[in-house]
Amino acid sequence: MSAPLSIVILAAGKGTRMYSALPKVLHRIGGQTMLERVIDTALSLKPQHISVVIGHCKDAVRDTVRRDVAWVEQTEQLGTGHALKTALPQLPADGRTLVLYGDVPLIDAATLQTLLDAAGDEVGLLTDVLADPTGYGRIVRQDGRVVAIVEEKDADAAQKAITETNTGILVLPNRHLSGWLAQLNSNNAQGEYYLTDLIALANAQGVAVHPVQVAASYLAAGVNNKQQLAALERIFQRNQAQALLKAGLTLRDPERFDLRGSLKHGQDVEIDVNVVIEGDNELGDGVRIGANCVIKNAIIGAGSVIEPFSHLENCRIGRDARIGPYARLRPQADIGDEAHIGNFVEVKNSTIGHGSKANHLTYIGDAEIGRGSNIGAGTITCNYDGVNKHRTVIGDEVRIGSGTMLVAPVSVGDRATTGAGSTITRNCPADKLTVARSRQTVIEGWVRPEKPKK
Ligand code: UD1
Ligand code: CA
Repeated sequence: MSAPLSIVILAAGKGTRMYSALPKVLHRIGGQTMLERVIDTALSLKPQHISVVIGHCKDAVRDTVRRDVAWVEQTEQLGTGHALKTALPQLPADGRTLVLYGDVPLIDAATLQTLLDAAGDEVGLLTDVLADPTGYGRIVRQDGRVVAIVEEKDADAAQKAITETNTGILVLPNRHLSGWLAQLNSNNAQGEYYLTDLIALANAQGVAVHPVQVAASYLAAGVNNKQQLAALERIFQRNQAQALLKAGLTLRDPERFDLRGSLKHGQDVEIDVNVVIEGDNELGDGVRIGANCVIKNAIIGAGSVIEPFSHLENCRIGRDARIGPYARLRPQADIGDEAHIGNFVEVKNSTIGHGSKANHLTYIGDAEIGRGSNIGAGTITCNYDGVNKHRTVIGDEVRIGSGTMLVAPVSVGDRATTGAGSTITRNCPADKLTVARSRQTVIEGWVRPEKPKK
């Protein structure tokens, strides 16, 4: 079929049952808003046109969902039929229109293509069969043919017993659209213009309705409340985890793994339980991620190990490095090959050279550390004077004593050593020991005061 394909996504509803200040379609599945997911699936079908009908919190929706679509405003939510009618002026007179929903986030291109193929230039309707069809429109058949949809609130007892349901997703021939939409009325239990009434209109005009049953219910499941959002999130995560396992990633427990973005991985990569991965990430061969880590936009080189409870964001780690447990790598932390970042060490906007170590209780911010240097426990780069940030530059094979305060801007030369507890305010020369602390003295003849005895 080469007739033009248009797609209309209905997303004007408020989502009252979410009990949220955020419009429903901006709630996220796998880190991405439901509406973005639907738009991206729609785009993958390469339609000539996409309209998104918005109403409730329209500005927030448009600002959050940055996609090249035609936004249509439905000022009053008078029903799904009315919503499609709002988009009608943007649709060409020929070809077909596929109707999708901003709150049906997991619909996939394969299902939609099957529906489009089945529809031809007539009507295609995506259906489901549910053990409990409560709340859904029911598919009414006569001699096997689909002749109408009855909404739950308008259904009689016999119709309520039907388990074949309307997913809402359908394909319509544009040549009939304006005629059919003009005939809709709101004489029903909800006083709304029902898109579903188009099925009876098509049938009356002898235009066949081709039903396609969805392969799995979750694909066409809608989100009306937080329970349904959580249920779809889990299905989404489970599917992702299975795909990763299939590709050779070791997940200690696929039920306790969350990927909210993308993950590229090499061979023999292991991820322990309760790890959350966000944004775009790359893990080289043999990388191991310990339990309870949160990792966002990280590139981790082959053989590196991230010990439990570490938090990494917008950072790069070389090969065979060891991070954590309880490490925090903040944006622009660049950790070299074989480097060690230990417990309660925070690194921000800093380069740590090959094999250098900061193993305990340290803050490294706006610093550059060379190769083979050791940063003693409790060291702090004092990078902020209250107005500006300054850099600390540390050379190769340096030994920074425990508890050193490096007041930036300051530099420490190659192979230099600083004494423990020093407050370094001026540059430390290479190959020398620099100590900056008051000398320890012993007061001879001093007597400890004592309370008078009674
Ligand atoms: C609809 C179908 C029902 C189907 C169910 C599947 C109708 C009349 N009923 O019912 O047969 O089983 O979906 O989930 O179509 N919307 C607008 N503007 C409006 C009204 C709705 O944009 O004026 C949008 C909503 O934001 C939502 C979607 O359309 O994304 C569906 O509307 P909703 O009110 O949830 O329809 P249901 O009662 O669930
Ligand atoms: Ca709904």
